[in-house]
Amino acid sequence: MYLCELGVSQIKDFFNVVGSRVSVRRFRPDPLPDDAVRNVLWAATRAPTAGGRENWLFIVVKSEEVRKEIHKLLIESHIRYAIKISKMSPERIEKWRRAMEEGMYLAPLYIAVYIDLRRLTSGGARDINDAEFIMEVQSAAAAMENAILAAWSLGIGSVWLGVPLLLEEEFNKLLKPPPDHKLMGILALGYPAEEPRTRNRKPVESVSIVI
Ligand SMILES: Cc1cc2nc3c(=O)[nH]c(=O)nc-3n(C[C@H](O)[C@H](O)[C@H](O)COP(=O)(O)O)c2cc1C
Repeated sequence: MYLCELGVSQIKDFFNVVGSRVSVRRFRPDPLPDDAVRNVLWAATRAPTAGGRENWLFIVVKSEEVRKEIHKLLIESHIRYAIKISKMSPERIEKWRRAMEEGMYLAPLYIAVYIDLRRLTSGGARDINDAEFIMEVQSAAAAMENAILAAWSLGIGSVWLGVPLLLEEEFNKLLKPPPDHKLMGILALGYPAEEPRTRNRKPVESVSIVI
């Protein structure tokens, strides 16, 4: 059943969910209940969507074989990110690699989020119509955030993974999306195997301007 049918009293308070959520990168191997996964996907599809297009596709990965391959690619793409974008020291990269090889980012469920470029007027050609492309990306991002919050409200941890964009072709070979689908990101989900570490945010006043 969908949790939205339960009524408010049994569902965690919204601000509690938002305020306590943290990224989880180490998961227990227990599989997630199908019902929970359905509710997470339901929440994803309730996100605002540009033009009402719902131009998203969620590839849900439960298969152990595929998950292990995803994990390998996640290690490679995080290392790539560490070298090219974070410019981490070789020592830190090595430490991170070991943590990943020991199971960091290995999740009982992954949800890869795609958009269908064929449904864009511009066919995804960003120079022709940046605005349309950006709105499709934002719609997919909104769906991902809804999924993360829904999962957390059910006690399921997750981390939003952007690094697969650095190895897009390899991920596509594995996930086999329909033609002309563009990867937006992957969510790793599972029951947390680590004590969540809250990352503070800048005060609202320092990142907002009232005019
Ligand atoms: C677009 C996007 C991409 C991200 N990609 C990654 C990623 O590839 N690997 C990772 O470990 N975390 C990734 N994150 C998670 C951020 O590192 C995390 O949200 C941030 O450090 C704040 O921590 P918190 O989520 O625990 O509050 C990503 C988050 C966003 C929004």
